[in-house]
Amino acid sequence: MKNVAIFASGSGSNAQAIIEYFRKKGKDPVKLILSNNPNAYVLERAKQLGVESFVFSREDLYNKPTVLEVLKAKKIDFIVLAGFLWLIPASLLEEYRGKIVNIHPALLPKYGGKGMYGMRVHEAVIANKEKETGITIHWVDEKYDHGDIILQVSCSINPTDSPEQVAAKVHELEHYYYPIEIEKLII
Ligand code: GRF
Repeated sequence: MKNVAIFASGSGSNAQAIIEYFRKKGKDPVKLILSNNPNAYVLERAKQLGVESFVFSREDLYNKPTVLEVLKAKKIDFIVLAGFLWLIPASLLEEYRGKIVNIHPALLPKYGGKGMYGMRVHEAVIANKEKETGITIHWVDEKYDHGDIILQVSCSINPTDSPEQVAAKVHELEHYYYPIEIEKLII
């Protein structure tokens, strides 16, 4: 089984779901959680789960070898983006192309791209009166929300749903499907 690092910028509920999914099976492939945000709740989750974490700056990611060095030191061979808001630089892609996945809270190519994250996605989906939304798990390339799609799962939207209600449905799908798909890719 490959060694996994998770990159997250925010709450980290997906990171936690992934770690717990594997631990229930007696496995522990997630060796490191990385964040660009020193105040991200994912760092608290990492502490509670006993997973090592690392916080990096924009400079560290784009202009220095810092992040790559940390990944190498921990022998990471697979990267999971879970609510990570910065673009993956070419230097990381060069080393990990075909080994980085992302999850997006909508049915790409709709509602993706720069600035389309978090509640903005669900608000846009509702504003357009969509009847369904869902999740997209995809490979990562040099553009936001762009690489080949691995899995999409949809859920229906009721006309009275608030963005928060849609977010909750989508999160439920994410927490269920993301760990399962990651498992298939790292075995
Ligand atoms: C998820 O909805 C994911 O699809 C998107 O960012 C959100 C992260 O949520 N990329 P969390 O931090 O895992 O709770």
